[in-house]
This record gives sequence, C-alpha cells and structure tokens, in this order.
Amino acid sequence: MKLIKAVRGTKDIIEGTASKYSYIHREAEDLFKSYGYSFIKTPIFEETDLFKRGIGEATDVVEKEMYTFIDKGDRSITLRPEGTASVVRAYLENKIYAKEEVSKFYYLGSMFRYERPQAGRQREFNQVGVEVLGESSPVLDAEVIAMGYHFLEKLGITDLEVNINSVGGQESRKKYRQALIDYLMPVKEELCEDCKRRLETNPLRVLDCKIDTCKKHTANAPSIIDSLSEEERTHYETVKKYLTLFGVPYVENPKLVRGLDYYSSTVYEIVTNKLGAQGTVLGGGRYDNLLKQLGDKEIPAFGFAAGIERIMMLLDEIPSENPDVYVAWLGEKAEETAMKLTNDLRKAGLKAAVDFGARGMKGHMKKADKLGVNYVIIIGEDELNKGVVVLKDFNARTQEEVTLEEVINKIAK
Ligand code: HAM
Repeated sequence: MKLIKAVRGTKDIIEGTASKYSYIHREAEDLFKSYGYSFIKTPIFEETDLFKRGIGEATDVVEKEMYTFIDKGDRSITLRPEGTASVVRAYLENKIYAKEEVSKFYYLGSMFRYERPQAGRQREFNQVGVEVLGESSPVLDAEVIAMGYHFLEKLGITDLEVNINSVGGQESRKKYRQALIDYLMPVKEELCEDCKRRLETNPLRVLDCKIDTCKKHTANAPSIIDSLSEEERTHYETVKKYLTLFGVPYVENPKLVRGLDYYSSTVYEIVTNKLGAQGTVLGGGRYDNLLKQLGDKEIPAFGFAAGIERIMMLLDEIPSENPDVYVAWLGEKAEETAMKLTNDLRKAGLKAAVDFGARGMKGHMKKADKLGVNYVIIIGEDELNKGVVVLKDFNARTQEEVTLEEVINKIAK
C-alpha cells in the first residue's frame, strides 16, 4: 500500500520542531501580553475579495499565490495568505473602534501561499504577528519595531539587521511612482520579464527584484525618501530617533518596499544572513489606508508578522522540557502508591513521569536517564512498609529516605 505523505510545501511540526514551536508560542504570548496586546483568532479562510482589496490585485500574493476555491455555496473562498487583512476585517465587523481608542492584537497560526517551496519557504507556514489599530504616533512605530526585535533577541537569535524605510502616503508614492517609471522606462527591455510587467502594474516592486540586471538598473534610481512630504519626513525622523532611544540598531534601506500594497509611511524588515535567500524573519509597517479601503474608516494602523519556520531554523537550543521527576516503582504492591504520588506531584505543578509497565531497577534508571530528569523517586516494598520513598537527586548526587508527605515539598523547593 502506498503511504500517503504530507502535501508538497507543507510540513509536520513534530518532535524537535514541535518543542520549538510551542516555545516560540509561549515566549511571544508572554512578551506581547506584557506590552498590552490581547489574543485574536480569525478564521483560516475568508471571502476572496478581502485579500484582493486588502493586499492589492497587483501583488505577487494576490496575482499568483492564493489558494482560492469555490465552495459548495458558490462563494469564492481563499485560505488566508497573511493575517493583517483578517484582523482588520474582524475589527471593523465587530466595531471595536467604537469601544476603545487603541486596539492591540497578537495572533499566531497557519498562512497559505502557493510559492515554490524551498528551505524557509513553504506553502503552509506559520506566522506570529501583531496589529495596533487607532494610533498614528511615530513613537508607536518605533515601539512595535523594538518589541519585534526584542522578541527575536529574547529567543536568543543574534546577528539580526533591522532595515527601515518610509514609502510615504498615497500622494508622495504617486509622485515617486512616476519618477521611477521615468527613470526605468529607457531600460525597460533589459529588465526581467516580471519587472517589465511590474513597471506597468507595480513599479516600486522593481526595486526589490533579486535579478542582477534589474539590481544594476535600480542601483542609482531616485530615492523614495526624496518624494516624502514634510510631515512624512518628520514622522520618519521621529521613528529613527525613538529606535535609537529604545536601543534598536537599524539600517536605512530606501529600496525596501515590501510585497503587500497596503503599506504607507514606515516599512521595515528584520533580516538575517543565516537563512540564504529567505533571510527575512519579520516584516511589517504602517498601513493607514487599509481601514479606509476595507471599511471606509480613517483609522491608522501598524503591525508586523514573523515567520515561525524561519525562527525555528535560527533557534539552536531551547530551554529543557524534560520532566522534573521520574517515579520508579518496584513490585505490584507499590503500583497504586506510585500512581497516586505522580498524580499529586502533577497537581502540585511539577512535571512528573511514571511508567505503567512493571520494570526492574535497571530499566527504571535507564528510562530516567533517557528522560533527563533531575530527581527519581523510588518506591519498593521495603519503602512501602516503612511509609517512605527514596529520593535520588541527580545533580547533588545524593539519596535519602523521605516520607510521602515530605517528598513533594522537597522537590518543589
Ligand atoms: P510578509 O512579509 O508577507 O508580511 O510575511 C511576514 C513573514 O512571514 C516573512 O518575513 C517571513 O518570515 C514569513 N513568510 C512569508 N511567506 C512565507 C513562506 N512562504 N514560508 C515561510 N515563511 C514565510 C505579512 O504577512 C504582513 N501581514 C505583516 C504585517 C503585519 N504588516 C503589518 N502588519
């Protein structure tokens, strides 16, 4: 019989990757909550129009990468390729803006993009992200960038580079778009096929094409910073000032434009050189026009998302998830006491392991060693008769007899 395998571009999160995934989840949750963010979970699929209108028809994501299908009710449905559009939809639909001035959400889960799979790039991948709605201050931009940076640092990821840019508002981008078209039109025939098309539909995307000839032609292209209005320039300067204040090293990259159309003003990416071509670990920015586009509301917003698979690739070691204690029981009579004690240890908040099958002492020690525990509690017939257990401390290399009542407190200490 042919074994069915996971679909191309998808991966099981299992064994080592599963521990890393739940570690990242926990760390993200702790940190984001401490900054005042609350959890949001939106559906995995949405009406296709949400992404078409939200992300933009001329983006690679909408043009070529969406998992779109017609459901049994004849609706066009798309598996979410990212989280921002869905969070904005939920925020508007639930009229959260009428309940609070500023909303801060974090989320985590699967996203779907039909891309060519390679290391760090999958068709189903996981993101952890945050969105702040209702705040226009540039200080927020810096605060969110700093939080993302500290999140990665806290996980122990080093050698990160924060790239920032400002893509301005609609007016200045229109101006810049024209300047870029004027600059690139004379060399259009030398650009790659994708960029020839992008020059018509989304010229800013030519700036981050990875093909050498395109890179050569954009090397001295006009800078978007020169097209910013006075107000946009001040916003950008304030973001930089606060990044310095918050201790976040950054590099200005005037060619950074991001792949989704909803951005305005600040955009940024945190990159590493340890992941080859898929070096962007985290990306985001301001999207002050998206709420207008989706719900006719003038509400400013800022956010980011990080790729969990990429973070997992950068994480070498995570704190041990080994049990604290292994309960070894010898002889039928000790079984009940051992099971009850394990239950009590767990109720006291300790990570306790026990084996259901009877084993000899050697077998138990082998198991305890494999589990990497700090303590073993041994309950044999002699101990039962005396109302005690033997507590072995592997770190201190000691062994003592303690009563059943004492043993939990001793380990908990
Ligand atoms: P994005 O840059 O498209 O932004 O994705 C964010 C991160 O998700 C990337 O930096 C990368 O780490 C990861 N990622 C993207 N595609 C894949 C893939 N095919 N395989 C593995 N990882 C991937 C967004 O999605 C925006 N919604 C971020 C945002 C939030 N902007 C404002 N708020």
